Amino acid sequence: MDRYAVVGHPISHSRSPWIHAQFAAQTAQSMQYTAMDVDPAQFEASIARFFVEGGAGLNITVPFKERACAMARKRSPAVDACGAANTLYLDAEGLLCAENTDGHGLLQDLVANHGACLAERRILLLGAGGAVRGVIPALLEHGPAHIGILNRSHDKAVQLAKHFRGEVDIKAWPAETAFAQPFDLIINGTSAGLHGDLPSIPAGVLHSQTWCYDMVYGKGETAFVQWARRAGAAKAIDGIGMLVEQAARAFSIWRGVTPQTAAIIQALRQELAAPSPGSGL
Ligand code: ATR
Repeated sequence: MDRYAVVGHPISHSRSPWIHAQFAAQTAQSMQYTAMDVDPAQFEASIARFFVEGGAGLNITVPFKERACAMARKRSPAVDACGAANTLYLDAEGLLCAENTDGHGLLQDLVANHGACLAERRILLLGAGGAVRGVIPALLEHGPAHIGILNRSHDKAVQLAKHFRGEVDIKAWPAETAFAQPFDLIINGTSAGLHGDLPSIPAGVLHSQTWCYDMVYGKGETAFVQWARRAGAAKAIDGIGMLVEQAARAFSIWRGVTPQTAAIIQALRQELAAPSPGSGL
């Protein structure tokens, strides 16, 4: 039976084994998918051993996505753009390949599941860490008019905007900005929500048609989704759909078959309906 796993530290919170078990049952794939808690000192050795022993593919989560990227012999354009990988597999020659399905997962949820149109829209990204960096390439493909980045540490936002400069009108906004022109979509990519916190958000970011998307999910409504509802956003969406969609993309890379996601997103949302925070992959 082909073996897969999600690797992180810690990893016990991960929903990925359950999600991939649903995909495998739905598409009649014979495979095993487990969670591997890997000692950070042993990451590269553990990954190498997994594949040498016949493992077929891995998902990679916090704190290893950059190290997974560095290990790979072949990197997809998305991985090259953001320097982080969440999916590993071997190609026909046995070379370790890296993909990042987070951006695809976000866009699949926003556009295919919720019907968003991002062309010519103004998008504000909250945060400037790996999560935000990982989804910018996919956002760029949809032709937004402007991408703003706002981060607690402004310097990191400036560096990130510099990295993608030239492809779109992209700018780091200082936290104290009061926006004269609001945004059409605000995406929370900070890790504040993992602790039930909300990043500070300046005045003037919203108008009545603004959508808000939280890349974090948790038990009950996330702090950012609650803020968005109170602030009058047209839609407030949490990251459950993104979680399932990024997994579906990894599954289709490994198995050559794309699973249906709607029922799995709904089941996960129902299970998480009771309060207390949780986190990705
Ligand atoms: P990840 O890979 O999840 O993006 P990361 O690279 O450590 O993790 O980035 C976390 C992001 O969340 C950063 O942008 C961080 O802001 P700083 O760069 O100022 O550290 C942001 N963040 C974390 N906790 C936050 C909080 N309580 N309020 C606002 N921003 C927060």
